[in-house]
Amino acid sequence: MKNTHVDLTKPGLQGVRVLLGVTGSIAAYKAAEWVRALIKEEAIVTVMMTSAGQRFVSPLTFSALSGNRVYHDMFEEDQEGVMAHINLSRDNDVVLVAPATAQTMTRLSRGMANDLVSTTVLAAQKPVIVCPAMNTNMFTHPATQENIKKLEDYGYHVVAPDSGSLACGEVGDGRLPDWDVAREKLLQVLCPDDLTGQNIVITAGPTREAIDPARYLTNRSSGKMGYALARAAVRRGAKVTLISGPVTLSEPPGVQVVKVQSAQEMEAEVLSHAAEASVVIKAAAVADYRPLVEQHHKIKKKADTFSLELVKNNDILARLGRERNGRQLLVGFAAESKNHQQEGLRKLTEKNVDLIVVNDILGKKTGFDVETNQVTLIDRTDICQLPLLSKEGTANQILNKVLELLSAR
Ligand code: PMT
Repeated sequence: MKNTHVDLTKPGLQGVRVLLGVTGSIAAYKAAEWVRALIKEEAIVTVMMTSAGQRFVSPLTFSALSGNRVYHDMFEEDQEGVMAHINLSRDNDVVLVAPATAQTMTRLSRGMANDLVSTTVLAAQKPVIVCPAMNTNMFTHPATQENIKKLEDYGYHVVAPDSGSLACGEVGDGRLPDWDVAREKLLQVLCPDDLTGQNIVITAGPTREAIDPARYLTNRSSGKMGYALARAAVRRGAKVTLISGPVTLSEPPGVQVVKVQSAQEMEAEVLSHAAEASVVIKAAAVADYRPLVEQHHKIKKKADTFSLELVKNNDILARLGRERNGRQLLVGFAAESKNHQQEGLRKLTEKNVDLIVVNDILGKKTGFDVETNQVTLIDRTDICQLPLLSKEGTANQILNKVLELLSAR
């Protein structure tokens, strides 16, 4: 079940209300770290615990970290005198049970309601994410595996545990996964899956145009805008192929990443993957020129001045525009330092694309290698100025426009 009440223009989990259920596993101490991470992203966290969970970490720890009251007694009432298990799920966007013990998963799979966590999950009309953590033999036992299958049949999202050394000294499946795995699942579950069925090719990052074995021409693109688009699109259900120049970013989970160096390599990969794509989004900063001759040996320093003859690279986006099939939606970017709208409109028509995303590369918080962007979306009938947003927030707005254009066809 997807929760679509979350503001996609906000970065990450900002403003998301998370109800965290902590049960009786030694991994409960890691749940405290997860609360810190959530609060750091300005999420709103309410913790509920089983009695076994309180044996590992005290409610005081979670109330100090979350800044909210911790619930553990299913008969306690909240301020309005309503039983906690009714309002707790109503007042939150998502329920995250982590760590989830074998015992709690048995309760959840049988619809039991004999403690606050199981009762609240049973009453919840919100997405439920379950993160099992236990001894390997317990996790691989058929009973536990059957419970997991049942939970998935109910529509709960079960996050596979990590494999490695466990607190009990054994090695194998059963470790609570790293926070970024759970974070990605939260974002995926909270996003609408309105891009399911779409096959989207995205380009990102700079290209490198070799001068000699030691030198190349490149630009300031970090890849952040393209990677944000890939993360946002896969969370919303799309099949995503990310064709990336050399960047230092980690690969977005669930995305097929194709690494390239030069504009010519990027062109070859784009043309081969674009054929099957329903949408192509070209966020990469592709070099317009490359050295006419790539020197086999390192050029030795001699005269005081040095000239380099350059030759034009193909304009990949313009080529897609020339060779486009009717079905495909083409989205280009425009990195401008002046005449932004005029240049955006020119590129929209000259390259024969459906949408141009114009961004100012002189702004301190826009364009190259920053976490935010402020773009203008120009399509054939509309010009839309977006506010300054995180690149993930900008990415979701671009994808909303893509959906609008797809549905208008
Ligand atoms: O990666 P970041 O650090 O997050 O920075 C983001 C960004 C500024 C790189 C990004 O938002 C952006 O503007 N990308 C496009 C950069 C660019 O090459 O703009 P352009 O106006 O020069 O090119 C216009 C369009 O043609 C772009 O979609 C580009 O991918 C495409 N192009 C350009 C040249 C070329 N030879 N082939 C192309 O396909």
